[in-house]
This record gives sequence, structure tokens and C-alpha cells, in this order.
Amino acid sequence: MIVGRDDGYPWPVAKAGYGAARAVVRTNATMANRSVRFFDEQFRAQARWGRYALNPFEMMVLPHLSGRVLDLGCGLGNLSLEAARAGCKVHAVDAATAGLRDLRKRAKEVRLELNVEFAELAHYRIDEQYDCIVAIGLLMFFPRSVAIKLLQAIRNAVKPGGLAAINVLIEGTTYLEMFEPDHYYLFGEQDLANRFVDWEILESKTDLFPAPGDTVKRFATLVARKPWNNLHC
Ligand SMILES: C[S@@+](CC[C@H](N)C(=O)[O-])C[C@H]1O[C@@H](n2cnc3c(N)ncnc32)[C@H](O)[C@@H]1O
Repeated sequence: MIVGRDDGYPWPVAKAGYGAARAVVRTNATMANRSVRFFDEQFRAQARWGRYALNPFEMMVLPHLSGRVLDLGCGLGNLSLEAARAGCKVHAVDAATAGLRDLRKRAKEVRLELNVEFAELAHYRIDEQYDCIVAIGLLMFFPRSVAIKLLQAIRNAVKPGGLAAINVLIEGTTYLEMFEPDHYYLFGEQDLANRFVDWEILESKTDLFPAPGDTVKRFATLVARKPWNNLHC
């Protein structure tokens, strides 16, 4: 099914030239990889335009969230903020400073408490157990071995009875602008489902979105519940 608009949705593309005008104020992001720079640029523009709507994956995941939530690759933090509004205790992590700065500002404005952390996620250690761990649009930005390791860390850090909500780009995606060359992994269509075969699958779907330059983005999204008694997770 093709959904969305032809503007790079669900992650809109910043206007050409905007980045150059802003380059001087990029500090941490300047040292980050191409993917983080790409999104940092977008979040700066989105914050300026006030574009804070949840994307379709975030909308799908939000009703499943409860308790302690880890949002890996939180971006602008729209889902983190809504989850906190719904009563979750949220820990939001990303390396795009513009998104994190704006999230902190918005959380303060509406007096919601969120733990917002700057971190390079390639070798991130998840030190605690969570009721829900979300990684929407993150794991494909790492080489395969790193992506699979982080996916396994997510599985390990979800409490028994808790949820993992994962969304990735999959094979067939031809929009590659946002990737660091040779530093990404397009998952196979069934990869996520296969890796959570021992969990209860609550949602599982693929989507196709048109992207700039006659390209496409193909996504797989999975929401799965960890068994209460699975000692091997
Ligand atoms: C497609 S956006 C998704 C953002 C948000 N989850 C959403 O659904 O709107 C990908 C996010 O992953 C973050 N990201 C990519 N590579 C990263 C890395 N190596 N370390 C930390 N964050 C990274 C980007 O900064 C960006 O916020």
C-alpha cells in the first residue's frame, strides 16, 4: 500500500539551502555522521515551522505504551512527549541536538518531566529494564552487525510482559539521501518478525511511501510483547 505525500513523508525533507544558512550554529551535529546531520537539519526546520504531528508509526505505537518507556532515536520527541502526557515515564535518546533541545523546551513549556539524553546510539548500552522500548526509524542507520546487536539489546532490556516497538527501512527502499555511504542496513521484509517469533506479535505491517526524485521508502513495523516466562529473551 502506498501512503503519504511526495515530500519525503513520514520524515519531511528540509528546504534546499536552509542547511547552509544554519551551518554556523551546528556544533555537536557537525561532528555527527551524515544521517544525524540530515535529521538535525530537518528538526531545526520542523521546529521553526511548528510541525510536531506524530508520524503514522508513532500514532500506531502510542496506544500500546505504558510504564517506563525508552525511546531510542527519539528525533524531535513527538512520541516521547505524547507518551509522557499519557502518564509514561519516558527516557528519550538521540544524537541530533536540534531535536533534543526543542524537546527539552517543549517539555518544560507543558511541565512534563522527561529524561532527555544525548547519545551516539551505535554502541549504546541499555543499562535498565523498561516496560516498553521504542526504536522508530533508527536501526537501519547502522551497519548490519551493529543494528542486530542493538536489536538484541532491546529484546534483553524489555521487562517480561513488556513491549518492543520497532520500525525500520527494508529492502526495496531506493531513497538513500539520508544514509552515511556503506554505513546502513536495509532489513529484509521478514527480518523483524523472524527475530521476534518467540514474542506475541501485536502489530506487524509493511508500508511503501513515495520519496523525492521518484524514489521510495519501504518500511516494516512491529509491536511485540515479551513473554512472561521466556528465559531465552
Ligand atoms: C528517521 S528519524 C526518526 C525519529 C523519530 N523516531 C520519529 O519517528 O520521528 C531517525 C533518528 O535516528 C537518529 N539517529 C540516527 N543515527 C543515530 C546515531 N548513530 N546515534 C544517535 N541517533 C541516531 C537521528 O538523529 C534521528 O533522530
